[in-house]
Amino acid sequence: MSEQMIHRHTKLSIFMHWFNAFCWIALLLTGLGLISNPQLNPLGAWWPNLLRSIFGSGENLLAVHQYLGMVWAGAFLLYVLLMPRETIAFLKEIFRMSPSSDATWLMKMNLKMTMGKKGLKRFGMTPDMPPQGFYNVGQKLFAQATVIGGIVIVATGMVMFFSTIFLNNPNLAAWSRVIHYLTVGLVFAGLLVHIFMAAIAKEEKPAFKSMFTGEVPADYAKHHHPLWYATVTEKQEKG
Ligand code: HEM
Repeated sequence: MSEQMIHRHTKLSIFMHWFNAFCWIALLLTGLGLISNPQLNPLGAWWPNLLRSIFGSGENLLAVHQYLGMVWAGAFLLYVLLMPRETIAFLKEIFRMSPSSDATWLMKMNLKMTMGKKGLKRFGMTPDMPPQGFYNVGQKLFAQATVIGGIVIVATGMVMFFSTIFLNNPNLAAWSRVIHYLTVGLVFAGLLVHIFMAAIAKEEKPAFKSMFTGEVPADYAKHHHPLWYATVTEKQEKG
């Protein structure tokens, strides 16, 4: 018998996610190539040297990084302008928090992932998790970091870009560079967890598949996102 599937992501949101992932990785790699000080570059000197030889010069590499960054930011701006309802629904979903149950979920999830169910028992906790909506707390925190981080990265990037044309404020450009670098580092730390949870953790395999098909099995939704599952079934019952 084939399992019942539930719609989770539209084709457009799947496209935006993979476009975002591609841009993030390309911007990260070209950005790391721009840091010529080997003491600041986590990859040392070989990476900037390699990219500079591939792109012909540091100026070319900077231009690729800047224009790709503008295409990335421009696509999201277009999405926000053309799809305001979907944007607001996404923002409401990721910023709606319930502090006490969220703290319990985070604590239990950390114990479960590091020490297994035995770890929960050792601390006198039951294995059941506080019920989650469309996204779980971990996904919400990462999504918040990508939205806020994305805005900071684009704003500081624009300041640096305009500094090379007409903004004549070296302090502002220097601060923007530091904030740009630190924000990318913070979001990148979250990204490592995101990729592990989304693409490697066995439990989340159906969510990974849904990033291509747009659907998840009803059983997965019921167990991992029961609050969302309840709203979907309620809508289906109402017809
Ligand atoms: C390159 C490897 C990546 C993989 C395998 C991946 C996988 C996924 C999957 C499977 C989901 C859907 C989760 C669900 O339906 O519950 C998702 C959602 C999401 N992804 Fe990614 N992603 C990747 C890269 C990125 C990047 C680079 C970003 C941004 C920096 C990003 C941001 C998000 C956000 C904001 C969501 C919605 C909230 C969430 O589920 O965390 N992803 N990703």
